[in-house]
Amino acid sequence: MALIEFEHVFKRYPGSSNAAVDDLNLHIEAGEFLTLLGPSGSGKTTTLMLLAGFEAPSEGTIRLDGQSIESLPPHQRNMGVVFQSYSLFPHMTVAENVAFPLSVRKVDKAVIADKVTAALAKVHLETFTHRKPNQLSGGQQQRVALARALVFEPRLVLMDEPLSALDKKLREEMQLEIRRLHRELGVTMVFVTHDQSEAMTLSDRVAVFNQGRIEQLATPQSLYDAPANPFVASFLGDNNMLNCTLADASGAGVRTANGQLLQARISASTARVADATVKLCVRPEFLQVGADCAALATPNCLNGTLVDLIHQGDHWRVVVRLTALESGTHSAPLQWFAKVSPGALPPGLIVGQNVSLGFRPEDAWVF
Ligand SMILES: Nc1ncnc2c1ncn2[C@@H]1O[C@H](COP(=O)(O)OP(=O)(O)OP(=O)(O)O)[C@@H](O)[C@H]1O
Ligand SMILES: [Mg+2]
Repeated sequence: MALIEFEHVFKRYPGSSNAAVDDLNLHIEAGEFLTLLGPSGSGKTTTLMLLAGFEAPSEGTIRLDGQSIESLPPHQRNMGVVFQSYSLFPHMTVAENVAFPLSVRKVDKAVIADKVTAALAKVHLETFTHRKPNQLSGGQQQRVALARALVFEPRLVLMDEPLSALDKKLREEMQLEIRRLHRELGVTMVFVTHDQSEAMTLSDRVAVFNQGRIEQLATPQSLYDAPANPFVASFLGDNNMLNCTLADASGAGVRTANGQLLQARISASTARVADATVKLCVRPEFLQVGADCAALATPNCLNGTLVDLIHQGDHWRVVVRLTALESGTHSAPLQWFAKVSPGALPPGLIVGQNVSLGFRPEDAWVF
């Protein structure tokens, strides 16, 4: 049995026509690190609020260990929460902040002291006990919040964008810290972010949200390697897209609007109907760049004009305006970009020249 089960859960806020959470079915396994990933307004925070008990579902059931938790108030759900807006109590010291969940549970004073020391050690803040929150950096405050969420040994820790206010370096340090804590404590974590690289760093599984629904729920690797639809394909990592038609019902070949035939993989959910309009998706890291098609060793080749060449440290971003037309459009120029490692860039490229982009059939998806 899953630790948490959402069954057909809807949440409609008063005065709003669309459901913020729209028929959510989600099982969370004990001990897993699950991330809710999605654009702004897609229902991630609402899902966490329903789980924590700060909001009630309009319809449907949420179960913990097989028991419906509708009638349980938040403090009886045994969940630690770290919400971005749940700041520390400013008038309390670090130790008092971390002790708070235990003192409201009337735990013995000596036990509290021991647990606070242990919780602060876990987040490497044992020497900061007497400071006030305003004497800490943003990352240190987040670690205190994390210690406060862990101190009463909850079965479930819920985190809503806890790292979004931190700079990139600190955020990456804290991600590793959270990973370590999850591994060491074996606690179940549900984490909300709209940062795809954060989701990939932390998670056992990721639920990709869009408009109150889960588009796909899978490991980071399978979301990346086998996205279920174009939304997931472009939300996790980058993707170049081209509207095409299926060349025949076998589904392996697609035709661009100006008649060029390309080979790709067809996703399981795509109907195999000849001439159906489909989307071809190729990740920029799978594109090869050559002066012409003959210079490329791939079966697929698209010609275009080099628009820009940008050095990004570990790779070059090569922007190409395609000659291929999209099916249904005959005007808008279509730009794709490739990420090319410095050693793989053909020498002497000049903006404005003709170039070709090549890719293997197994690296291109058709939806
Ligand atoms: N208290 C509320 N009253 C009315 N509508 C709300 C309320 N809270 C959220 N919503 C709406 O519900 C939808 C989902 O909001 P939610 O906060 O869950 O999104 P989110 O995925 O967390 O977004 P973000 O990444 O911006 O935090 C949005 O359309 C939002 O406007
Ligand atoms: Mg939110």
